[in-house]
Amino acid sequence: MRLGVLLSGRGSNFEAIANSIAQGRLDAEIAVVISNRPSAGGLEIARQRGIPLRVIPSAGLNREAWDRLAIEELQTHGVELVCLAGFMRLLSAGFIRAFSGRILNIHPSLLPAFPGLDAQKQALDYGVKIAGCTVHYVDEALDSGPILLQSAVPVFDDDTVDTLSARILAQEHSIYSRAIQAIVEGRVTLEGRTVRIRESEK
Ligand code: GAR
Repeated sequence: MRLGVLLSGRGSNFEAIANSIAQGRLDAEIAVVISNRPSAGGLEIARQRGIPLRVIPSAGLNREAWDRLAIEELQTHGVELVCLAGFMRLLSAGFIRAFSGRILNIHPSLLPAFPGLDAQKQALDYGVKIAGCTVHYVDEALDSGPILLQSAVPVFDDDTVDTLSARILAQEHSIYSRAIQAIVEGRVTLEGRTVRIRESEK
């Protein structure tokens, strides 16, 4: 399956997906990485690995214009599944339609708790005892599509945003590739907003 990765920053989730592919745990190929920020660290990772990359700067472009350029790039590269990996923009209805049911996101909270920005800080400020991350399909609303996988981590009394984020990030790196591989193997079905994933026979 040909993946298109959209990112805005560091790119550690993208790197984890690339590692899963390199290690044979994920039967996919990253066809293209697109960043809306020229300074995104993820671009250097793509460069080092020889993965095609495109920068489409979002500064000064409206949402529809950026999304049209991104759709064109993804289609040119034959992308079948779009993976948002630290992509800090909302997608337009036109983008969602163009890749309907074929867009995933990773979010650093146990959705529907703490959507939006700074999810780990939101969780700490709220005082929850369990935090985590979510891989979900993307629909037109913010962090709201059907949930494929979640992973929970404890919150400790002395946690800071950094320590909690690091604990959650380790889980992000694990569940994102697992969710993609389930789709690749055709083990995922959707009923209403409930996703069911059959056990792997491998
Ligand atoms: C990750 O924690 C990801 O879950 C989060 O941004 C970080 C990106 O890190 N995404 C969101 O908050 C989306 N709402 P990365 O660039 O190292 O993958």
